[in-house]
Amino acid sequence: MDNVEDLRGDLLDAVAKAEDLEALDAIRVSALGKKGRITGLMKGLGGMDPEARKAAGQALNAVKDEVAQALDARKADLAAQALEARLVTERVDVTLPSPGETSGAIHPITQTWEEVVAIFAQMGFLVAEGPEIEDDFHNFTALNFPPGHPAREMHDTFFLPTREDGTRHVLRTHTSPVQIRTMVKEKPPIRILAPGRTYRCDSDMTHTPMFHQFEGLVIDKTTHFGHLKGCLQEFMEAYFEVKNLPVRFRPSFFPFTEPSAEMDIGCSRKGGELKIGAGGDWLEILGCGMVHPNVLKACGLDPEEYQGFAFGMGLERIAMLKYGIPDLRTFFDSDLRWLRHYGFAALDLPTVHGGLSR
Ligand code: DAH
Repeated sequence: MDNVEDLRGDLLDAVAKAEDLEALDAIRVSALGKKGRITGLMKGLGGMDPEARKAAGQALNAVKDEVAQALDARKADLAAQALEARLVTERVDVTLPSPGETSGAIHPITQTWEEVVAIFAQMGFLVAEGPEIEDDFHNFTALNFPPGHPAREMHDTFFLPTREDGTRHVLRTHTSPVQIRTMVKEKPPIRILAPGRTYRCDSDMTHTPMFHQFEGLVIDKTTHFGHLKGCLQEFMEAYFEVKNLPVRFRPSFFPFTEPSAEMDIGCSRKGGELKIGAGGDWLEILGCGMVHPNVLKACGLDPEEYQGFAFGMGLERIAMLKYGIPDLRTFFDSDLRWLRHYGFAALDLPTVHGGLSR
């Protein structure tokens, strides 16, 4: 049988000399594997008398721990060396001019963002922005989600750690807080479009933890539901480049609008292929409604004097529909083949008069 002291020396020596991860793994198996030397000695303990077993067992366990630690440490060393070697061979000098054949493309998210902004800009909307880390007031309370309201739960919110003053910020779950920031800051008439990133703790074929929305808000003294319908119909026709697009509005619920509606656009699903336009089928496209009096009040506006509408839609969703992109997650994979396939020419900025998506 092996002598414990010799065994310790042998194994630690072998670990120190292992030149790569494969060699190290072989040492691990030869020491600690089922038929390994330490394992073999462990098995031998059963035949000893109790006093001797205790002493030998302790010694053996100490060697076992020491060898395991040495294996881990050497493994970390070898991995760091391997990474270092790889970094040296893969070094790129970013100051060199690019090789002639490299050409970039505009990501479909950027393209869609620019298209939507171009259409609403033509209708007199200004782009507004807000922070991605929001407080509870702007993301929920001022939007008429009182504390404890069940609709808050629908948002799968990412919460940040509670601050010293007891407040807890969130990654904004929608772009609607930009409505609040705008109404608090500016006097009506207001006509804004707020594109931006939003976050929800959800991930599957149709959800990613980060995604984009467009929020629209119109506030003045006379804007009514008819304006909302006309504005969104015009947007959809321009964006999908389809004249006389059928649309319908179904009653819905959002805490921050009353009445609330969901907008559907016409489509056809003949032969399994989705086509936007007249075709007898419907596709849900966005949420909208007349701004709730409580929201106006929370922003210091008198609901007896002011009124207006709001809407919110998902950027990736309308991009997928227009450009036939089947899987949401591919937007964020950074796969060059995908980017080449779905990307857009860099200097072709979309405009309403020049064409949105040539
Ligand atoms: N904030 C909503 C959401 O993320 C979308 C939305 C619906 C925005 C209706 C609106 C609206 O402004 O009127 O689910």
